[in-house]
Amino acid sequence: MAESITLDIFRFDPEGDGEQRLQRYSVPVTKPGMKLLDALNYIKWNIDPTLTYRRSCGEGVCGSDGMNINGVNGLGCITPIAGLAQPIRIYPLPNMPIIRDLVVDTSHFFDQYRQLKPWLHADTPTPEHERLQTIAERDQLDGKYECILCACCTTSCPSWWWNGERFLGPAALLQADRWISDSRDEATGERLDALEDAFKLYRCHQIMNCAQACPKGLNPTASINHIKRALLTRKS
Ligand code: SF4
Ligand code: SF4
Ligand code: FES
Repeated sequence: MAESITLDIFRFDPEGDGEQRLQRYSVPVTKPGMKLLDALNYIKWNIDPTLTYRRSCGEGVCGSDGMNINGVNGLGCITPIAGLAQPIRIYPLPNMPIIRDLVVDTSHFFDQYRQLKPWLHADTPTPEHERLQTIAERDQLDGKYECILCACCTTSCPSWWWNGERFLGPAALLQADRWISDSRDEATGERLDALEDAFKLYRCHQIMNCAQACPKGLNPTASINHIKRALLTRKS
């Protein structure tokens, strides 16, 4: 008999009975190295087509299948089921409005990202070929450009739970640091001005949930500290 796993998955259908509950499923282990997303897909395709969740790439690149797995935020597609305590409890990302089952409304999260004007700002004329960087300058983007905006960090941050309307949260601040650290960007002063705010930046209390939650191994706390140092340095 094939090995199987047990999952308790959060269900909510505002167009149905509107009740929030956990629903139990049993899923066969269909392949070695099976990931949590494989189990969700098995349920949707073979047991219960009403189960609703986001996914796209299946490879930890698109950032769409962030969810809370046994109390820890992560990506379903790169989380192996081996080693997860059973029943595996799956909830939507915390502190986001729930649209249905595991699908949350990310509008506010991406509005905060848009506030950063997350593109290259440069007044100098565009060179004929490209804006060059030294290897050392390019290295400054490592640990930042890899962010896939999955929201696992921001939705695990207690400061964002409590002050999410005004505190930008770890993902947006890591992205802000990505542009502040870019030698080709000419708007560092304006970017720092926009962040010098008791809530937008300084609500981070160094709890480090964000770094622990990031499925890409990034450290938003380090970025937040880098921005704070940049603000201090420019005043001295
Ligand atoms: S270190 Fe800052 S941003 Fe990260 S979880 Fe803690 S309070 Fe939130
Ligand atoms: S820093 Fe990590 S956890 Fe946060 S949004 Fe980016 S990839 Fe996701
Ligand atoms: S499905 Fe794209 S990151 Fe998981």
